[in-house]
Amino acid sequence: MTHPYALASGTVLNDQTVQQLREDFPLLNTEVNGKRLVYLDSGATSQNPYQVIQSEQSFYQQANSAVHRGAHTLAVESTELFEQARMVVAGFVGAQENEIVWTANATEALNLITYSFANASSGIGAPASQPFALSEGDEIVLTEQEHHANLIPWQILAQKTGATLRWIPLNADGTLNLEEAERLITERTKVLSFTHVSNVLGCINPVDTLVSLARQVGAFVVLDACQSVPHMPVNFHELDVDFAAFSGHKMLAPTGIGVLYAKAELLANMPPFLTGGSMITKVTMTEAKFMEAPTKFEAGTQKISQAIALAEAVRYLQNIGMDQVYAWEHELGQRLVHGINNLDGVRSLGPEAGQTRAGLVAFDVEGVHPHDVGQLLDMQGIAVRVGHHCAQPLHRALGLTASTRASSYIYNTTEEIDIFLEELAQVRSYFGY
Ligand SMILES: Cc1ncc(COP(=O)(O)O)c(C=O)c1O
Repeated sequence: MTHPYALASGTVLNDQTVQQLREDFPLLNTEVNGKRLVYLDSGATSQNPYQVIQSEQSFYQQANSAVHRGAHTLAVESTELFEQARMVVAGFVGAQENEIVWTANATEALNLITYSFANASSGIGAPASQPFALSEGDEIVLTEQEHHANLIPWQILAQKTGATLRWIPLNADGTLNLEEAERLITERTKVLSFTHVSNVLGCINPVDTLVSLARQVGAFVVLDACQSVPHMPVNFHELDVDFAAFSGHKMLAPTGIGVLYAKAELLANMPPFLTGGSMITKVTMTEAKFMEAPTKFEAGTQKISQAIALAEAVRYLQNIGMDQVYAWEHELGQRLVHGINNLDGVRSLGPEAGQTRAGLVAFDVEGVHPHDVGQLLDMQGIAVRVGHHCAQPLHRALGLTASTRASSYIYNTTEEIDIFLEELAQVRSYFGY
């Protein structure tokens, strides 16, 4: 039996309705260190509702079989569920089904692009793959905000091909310096890759401005949508990006499933990244012919139950409505940033309160190491992220080695934000300040 949604479709999110919604999330009802759990680490990974957990379980109980391989009934059923999931996820982000490639996570999706481009640069798939080939003199433009997942793959591609990396610097408030972006994006730019929402600063970057700069010079645009797709309405066709990546585990789905979006005409001509079973039409001892995209990029036995569960997570979010999700997280984010900056010796990173920003806030507690901040909060049952959040160059640019981050999601209440702020207020005095 499927678990009914705690909230009727389109219910406005507020403290009362979120309290009801939390009934769908078994783990939120847990105690940690003798205190009620306050989970403020959804930017790292989110919690799962019963509906998602059940969808994965019922796949194993009712249909479990390899997809696109067998002719027996279960194999056909599994394949149908797997492809329906692709349709649901495609619809959620304004894409066609054949523009959605399943990956293990966003990191793999970004690596898929760079490995495919590296293969094209070595002549694999030529002549159709040549638009994706890079060589000396070409430039890859990133930003100083990038998560390592959208930085290191490009570093490796640059090393393999002789291309040069450039990066858009930040303004004092952490937003992108668009004047510098205009100067850096030139005829030499082959790829512009940037994060939609910074996982540290919470800024929402101006995709339209950056896409139009890239279009003027014919560069590919890659969007790291890890911190946007789970939290706001996102339509890749409307944004007109060429590629985008996001992870299921940050949007109520299990770990082990991610998505690469790419325009169909690009996927058609890109060489594959991983190769092997399930992605070929004909193989001899010396060469192989590949299936059409997206299958060409899905070698080996797939992440079937995880893809099906991701579709269930999408249905869950659609039942609430992404406008609602965004509005509620905006309120939580503003409460966080106001509250943090009202504390002595605590400073938020990124745009000030009152400015457009996501529902996550990283901060620096003067004189106290983020690991100590995290440990003290954990003793009170509060889960936050500490460290460099896979963004070492960004922290360096901010003059820090690490920070603490509180990140909210649909299931957090304003009361939880206030509990977190009360406990954060005690941290510096605990250390004798
Ligand atoms: C902005 C951003 N990009 C990329 C990633 C990588 O996601 P994953 O580890 O799921 O591949 C994350 C995850 O923290 C992220 O926040």
